[in-house]
Amino acid sequence: MASITVRNLDENTKQALRERAAKNGRSMEEEARLLLGDTRDTPDSEYTSHTRILPRVQDEILDSTDLTDKRILLIIGGGIAAYKCLDLIRRLRERGAAIRPLMTKAAQEFVTPLSVSAIANDKVFSEIFDRDDEHDIGHIRLSREADLIVVAPATADLMAKMAQGHADNLASTVLMATDKPVLIAPAMNPQMWMHPATQRNIKTLDSDGIQFIGPNTGEMAESGEAGFGRMAEPMEIVSAIGHLLVPDSEPKPLFGKRAIVTSGPTHEPIDPVRYIANRSSGKQGHAIAEALGRAGAEVILVSGPVTIPDPKHPETIHVQTAREMQKAVETALPADIAVMVAAVADWRSVDEADEKMKKEDGKGPSSLKLTENPDILKTLGHHKKRPSLLIGFAAETENLEKHAQAKLKRKNADWIIANDVSPEGGVMGGEQNTVKLISKSGVEDWPQMNKTDVARRLVDEIIEHFSVETLEV
Ligand code: C5P
Repeated sequence: MASITVRNLDENTKQALRERAAKNGRSMEEEARLLLGDTRDTPDSEYTSHTRILPRVQDEILDSTDLTDKRILLIIGGGIAAYKCLDLIRRLRERGAAIRPLMTKAAQEFVTPLSVSAIANDKVFSEIFDRDDEHDIGHIRLSREADLIVVAPATADLMAKMAQGHADNLASTVLMATDKPVLIAPAMNPQMWMHPATQRNIKTLDSDGIQFIGPNTGEMAESGEAGFGRMAEPMEIVSAIGHLLVPDSEPKPLFGKRAIVTSGPTHEPIDPVRYIANRSSGKQGHAIAEALGRAGAEVILVSGPVTIPDPKHPETIHVQTAREMQKAVETALPADIAVMVAAVADWRSVDEADEKMKKEDGKGPSSLKLTENPDILKTLGHHKKRPSLLIGFAAETENLEKHAQAKLKRKNADWIIANDVSPEGGVMGGEQNTVKLISKSGVEDWPQMNKTDVARRLVDEIIEHFSVETLEV
């Protein structure tokens, strides 16, 4: 079986693939497979085109979406996938949402109202007229008191009712009466999904402004049946809800990944008041830690002594020396990603004096005996818990590419970000940076950017690396 690596495609091809995938509402992987004629996991595009109204969210779990005080009316339809609603409710409640469950009669054949009510911490509504019940609040209030109505699973029958404007049970009546956005997660047998009647209903619902999440492809509960019709996974639905209710929440494509970043210089003491250091400000490393955190990664920033504030998202561990930095990094393992940005001092004084060293009249400076510091990047490169993506920096004043390539090998890193730090460039301590990304597959020249943009672009590359690293074709 052949394989292609999207990272290896040239920038223009990659961009074209990205745009095409976004336009068709597919992941880059799905798009590439379709282009290559591989439809193993990818449904017929005729039937997918209506369904990807929301962005595909598999790789963009908005896990940290705060749904505090959001009220969601969850209509549970009658299908096997109804069991997934228990997990969906739990995950929504964890994020602060209040769930009011409404079950159709058929749904109650698949999951009991008692379980739904216990997990949702609310009564289950199911009857259109429930006059005996003190909880009866009527279909109009039910539909208006929510911020969003979610139908999951949305069966073929429920979708047909919605498309034709029926109001013959509590679910369909609420859906007719609502003035709130509606998100549906269809789930049905692939033949039912592909039936012309369902396809007509999808078009109608689409033009009525109904939002869809899924369905996905895969095996069906019926043995031997597979195809397009599996309900989206609970976390995909959570993510779609996040898109609708918290529209400016950023996607979290690195959710679930752990990253370690080193930043700043190290200070290697000579005596209690003097130390060996360099001009690193920590701006680049801190910006990368922040950008990784914003993309959803769990980030441990190990920072040498800097004057800039700790970034907002990551946990920051403050250290002084290379040896302290190494210890903090190793303690933070395992990690999926490590970006070693710190300008670690290569040498330290062999004997740190306990008292301030005295200047003696008439005598020249006493010589300083140095010893080598541990190389943290190299240690990680050969570590038994080596992060799967290991990135180093190479600050050079001459022969940038050659030195960086050598460093890539020597330290067993995956990528090296090489930058020219000759004093005339003003990189050390400055706001701008001009870098090259060097990997085993080649060299990418990036234009001059400020350090925040370098961080964002690097994080985009990291996201791409993890989402579409290798496509088997
Ligand atoms: O060998 P050089 O210092 O140029 O390598 C730079 C890269 O190695 C950077 O990623 C830096 O953070 C890392 N490094 C390290 N520990 C050292 C020296 C460098 O992690 N002692």
